Amino acid sequence: MSDVAEAVRIVGISGSLRKASFNTLLLKLLKEKAAPCILIEVVALDHIPLYNEDLDRLPQIPEVAEFRNKISASDGVLIVTPEYNHGVPGVLKNALDWASCPAFNSCFKGKSVSIISSSPAFTGGVRAQYQLREVLVSMYAHLVTGPEVVVANVNSKFAGNAYTDDDGLEFVLRTLQLLREQILLQRAVSVVQKDHAYTGG
Ligand SMILES: Cc1cc2nc3c(=O)[nH]c(=O)nc-3n(C[C@H](O)[C@H](O)[C@H](O)COP(=O)(O)O)c2cc1C
Repeated sequence: MSDVAEAVRIVGISGSLRKASFNTLLLKLLKEKAAPCILIEVVALDHIPLYNEDLDRLPQIPEVAEFRNKISASDGVLIVTPEYNHGVPGVLKNALDWASCPAFNSCFKGKSVSIISSSPAFTGGVRAQYQLREVLVSMYAHLVTGPEVVVANVNSKFAGNAYTDDDGLEFVLRTLQLLREQILLQRAVSVVQKDHAYTGG
């Protein structure tokens, strides 16, 4: 048996466009601290236009096609987001609306997804997290269950780019392990299903 851990490719999405965003900072930190078998590509939402069903036809808008293709090609998605007015930030919801089409057969169908929220408030963006779960369920994403990761008072946990809460970071990093475990389980199931199809079982 190989002792090289099986790699998974994750698309990381921040729900904030802000240059000094704590959520983007946290996402980048997770990319840096992730185990070598967890490869995270941070995908920015800056160039995704406002969703308009009239524009959602072939040929696809290049920025949208690129976003959808990256998600399709990934093994899973990690969303790190703030909460705006007790809800999912518009930029994130907008990008997910693009990604959700074609409905019921989108790049998110069957995709493993983990959510982290963070906020300077003690509530840590938990309400956005719950709304986001509902949005992803409608897209047939496979949400990773386990402890909900809500980073409260996030502004006090960064000193520049350095994260000062070591125990908290361990807990947040566990999200990536759970995401990887679910992806590997899905992989194993799809191998069994293929074998079953070949043998006509
Ligand atoms: C329009 C707006 C609405 C906000 N609403 C909430 C909110 O409902 N709950 C919350 O915890 N923080 C709220 N905040 C504060 C954000 O959590 C804070 O600005 C945070 O730093 C944004 O995330 P970022 O640092 O990743 O950009 C709001 C901020 C803005 C600009």
